[in-house]
Amino acid sequence: MIVTTAELYKVAYGKFAIGAYNINNAEQTMGLFRGCIDSQAPFIIQISKGARKYTDKRMLEAIIRSASEIFPDAIFAVHLDHGDEATCYDCIDSGFYSSVMIDASHDPFEENVAITKRVVERAHAKGISVEAELGMLGGVEEDIAVDEGNACLTNPDEAVEFIKRTGCDALAAAIGTSHGAYKFKGQQSLHFDVIEQIEAKLKAAGMPPTPIVMHGSSSVPQDEVLRINAAGGQLDPSARGVNEEEYLPAAKLGVTKVNIDTDGRLVWTRVHREFFRDKPQEFDFRPPGKVFQDEYAKFIAHKNEKLGSAGKLAEVRAALGK
Ligand code: 13P
Repeated sequence: MIVTTAELYKVAYGKFAIGAYNINNAEQTMGLFRGCIDSQAPFIIQISKGARKYTDKRMLEAIIRSASEIFPDAIFAVHLDHGDEATCYDCIDSGFYSSVMIDASHDPFEENVAITKRVVERAHAKGISVEAELGMLGGVEEDIAVDEGNACLTNPDEAVEFIKRTGCDALAAAIGTSHGAYKFKGQQSLHFDVIEQIEAKLKAAGMPPTPIVMHGSSSVPQDEVLRINAAGGQLDPSARGVNEEEYLPAAKLGVTKVNIDTDGRLVWTRVHREFFRDKPQEFDFRPPGKVFQDEYAKFIAHKNEKLGSAGKLAEVRAALGK
């Protein structure tokens, strides 16, 4: 059942984080729903601009509606990931999305405020919530590339002003992560201080707590990278992601939505590279597709455990009165 993102935030805020997983096709969708039912977790499906173009945006909507019928107990929200203004309006008007993200973080502050405000007005008129971004993450996210030098942490004072002036419902804050498989060299930690300061300054300003969204949350497991490379891949083995043990401490401070895409792509790459390496005479894509659905479901259930959302489905259902 599709619910509003705001409803999920209300149940999870300060207690656990909701996994927001990017999907592009039927195999990922099946694995995602199965993994969330197996782990009894609410979740957010993220659709990026690239995913909407990959086959056709209507195809993705139909796949999601079908999955919801196949897994009637699933409780989830549908979210546009990294939208521009036009794509946000298209999603708001479609009536299918629970929330949209307007990403004008690469624009100057005043411009970001103005664009976000316009999207918030259009979205709120239809009961849809808005995530906006302030500060810049490093890495590459589809067509937006930010080099490490330009990536900067969110300024907590600016965050409070931004939330106040835009009325956005959730803030994607730069707290030390970056998109993609190459995040950190060596051990690095999340900037918990930035999350703490944003929430403390909101409180001091007499404003309600605002869920923080963590982008670039993949952990880029070493064993996954090594298996991919052993099967013909050439990923940088020194790549490091977010420490999964930091998801829950971040959630307790206000990180309520955790975006994960890259780790799922690594599962796909590992399964398919290993399958065709071990069965070079094979050309039927369904056997590895089946393996992928199983592996993706396991991966999702594991992430939900780390996020603290596993086992929370009954609580969410009760809170929503569904
Ligand atoms: P990763 O690249 O770390 O999976 O982040 C995905 C993301 O933030 C999508 O918005």
